[in-house]
Amino acid sequence: MEKLIINGGHSLHGTVDISGAKNAAVAILPASIMVNKGISIIDNIPDIADIHCIERIIESLGCKVNINNDCVSIDSTCLNNINACTDDVRKMRASYYLIGALLGRFKKARVELPGGCPIGVRPIDQHIKGFEALGAHVNIEHGAVNVHADRLIGANIFFDVVSVGATINVMLAATLAEGVTTLENVAKEPHIVDVANFLNTIGANIKGAGTDVIRISGVKELSGCSYSVIPDQIEAGTYMIATAACGGEVTLNNVIPKHLESISAKLTEMGVQVIENGDSITVKSNGKLKCTNVKTLPYPGFPTDVQQPLSTLLSIINGRSIVNESIWESRFKHVDELKKMGANIKVEGRTAIIDGVKRLTGATVLASDLRAGAALIIAGLIAEGTTEVKGIDHIDRGYPNIEYKFNKLGADIVRITYNEEVL
Ligand code: EPU
Repeated sequence: MEKLIINGGHSLHGTVDISGAKNAAVAILPASIMVNKGISIIDNIPDIADIHCIERIIESLGCKVNINNDCVSIDSTCLNNINACTDDVRKMRASYYLIGALLGRFKKARVELPGGCPIGVRPIDQHIKGFEALGAHVNIEHGAVNVHADRLIGANIFFDVVSVGATINVMLAATLAEGVTTLENVAKEPHIVDVANFLNTIGANIKGAGTDVIRISGVKELSGCSYSVIPDQIEAGTYMIATAACGGEVTLNNVIPKHLESISAKLTEMGVQVIENGDSITVKSNGKLKCTNVKTLPYPGFPTDVQQPLSTLLSIINGRSIVNESIWESRFKHVDELKKMGANIKVEGRTAIIDGVKRLTGATVLASDLRAGAALIIAGLIAEGTTEVKGIDHIDRGYPNIEYKFNKLGADIVRITYNEEVL
């Protein structure tokens, strides 16, 4: 097993290159398996465990996958298996995109139910509602989703909740359906637009991604293309918050500042300087920050995926901050770990009441999920003394080269292998 040892107390200075967006790439790779002519070459793919998992899964379905640094080429013309039932499928959330992609291309699929971060109940009823509206029969048996349709026919679908996963999954299936599909009350996250742009590049006809209504005119076939994934809004937000917490001046390269507006606005309100410059953004902090309240919301609201890192920052700001998590019912698992480091936080349901303390102190802490891990790394960076972060396999699922990137900015993080003591 591995853990990170962090010697805290260093301010951050320099530049950091932000990688491609995890939540776009984990949808675009499954989307590429719908291509029946030519090869898809996709770059700016982040080097993270969730991507390696998806690559193994699509290979197991019969695709030829070639990886060259951050560029992946996929030949899906020879795909011959509609059963995605491996451990990798069960491990990650985004494997559910194989249902929409296989259903679109072959009108049938069998995909194990997905895993993912333990942040609350994660139903897929809206995905199923969408597939059924297109004419598919769906049942869940022995832990797998079985879908099949004689024909997929365009339909009007109004989602009951705004869901990133359901919006993308139904968009995938509808791409190869007959006629027009209208999706209403959809998610508007930057990765929704990126997946729609990728699909249009391979020959789909999708309009309206990024608004509340998406219209998809079904096409008969899709052809390979070259495509570059957008930068990761959440990785960027994490480094912005870390800089605000540690103090210093960091320029983030390869970002789309528009995607970061809710994070930039919140940090600016707290007294952090955020300067946009083309495809980079500079964050300056002198450590004298104001407490604030925040509520997580679907895009363009404040993203749930940086709520945990932000709550670490708020834990050392004088005064009371209130954090309301409106997307996930159980996304405060990092709080007990922050308390071990001296934070004063009370969780009541989906609200965290944070009374800022003067400092955190190093401790051994356990990451329960991906963004909890990022929150604990930031806690270690600002804490007095040494912090050990365990459970870092969660962090490796979503943050490429995290200790390398932080160390380049002046942090002191070492990854070590250890054997867990058996009592
Ligand atoms: N929901 C339903 N029914 C559904 C689908 C969702 O009730 O069929 C509910 C969920 O329970 C949740 C809300 O709708 O309360 C939003 O869920 P959504 O479907 O948008 O989430 P997701 O697609 O499972 C993706 C990201 C998450 C991110 C959320 C929200 C991926 C692989 N995951 O999850 O990312 O938190 O959107 O933006 O894209 C992360 O990166 O750390 C992460 C957890």
